[in-house]
Amino acid sequence: MTLTPTSHIAGIMAIKPIVTLPDEKTLRQISKPLKSVDVAARKLFDDMLETMYAAPGIGLAAIQLGVPLRQLVVDVARDGEPPKPLFMANPQIIWSSAQLGDYEEGCLSIPEFFEMVERPIEVNVRYLDRNSEAQEIHANGIVATVLQHEIDHLDGVLFIDHISKLKRDRVLKKFRKADKLGKL
Ligand code: NI
Repeated sequence: MTLTPTSHIAGIMAIKPIVTLPDEKTLRQISKPLKSVDVAARKLFDDMLETMYAAPGIGLAAIQLGVPLRQLVVDVARDGEPPKPLFMANPQIIWSSAQLGDYEEGCLSIPEFFEMVERPIEVNVRYLDRNSEAQEIHANGIVATVLQHEIDHLDGVLFIDHISKLKRDRVLKKFRKADKLGKL
């Protein structure tokens, strides 16, 4: 996910290409759960984090690198703040608030498009951390929004699915057209 552009410290690990629209064949896949967070999963986490920082973005799901596994990374630390990465495997929303709020969202797979999305303002998420240990967090504010956005990716859902059909169709058409013209 992206919000307003911010710069992050670029890392030294592998920066991978990010899958973007119009590649819905990839982005609409349902990602598979991990048995555990092993060495390969940790390597993927690292590549995801570096790619996200370089983009820059504040959240990234594995499918955005073309890997259909239920892994995501998030870091909402601002410029000048120390990095505060969250690594999650098999994340599940186990509670969400009845109260909804609007946030302007963007997505590294849908470059340069931002739109207001309404979602629950608080969530509890259960997941496996980098060491394959079960964790649970309570999130509010921007973290709650990013987590819901990224968990959606694991089920092939994009943030444009939460906006009007008219706006969504317009965005999809724009990316299909740009692709045909070889501009992506
Ligand atoms: Ni996204």
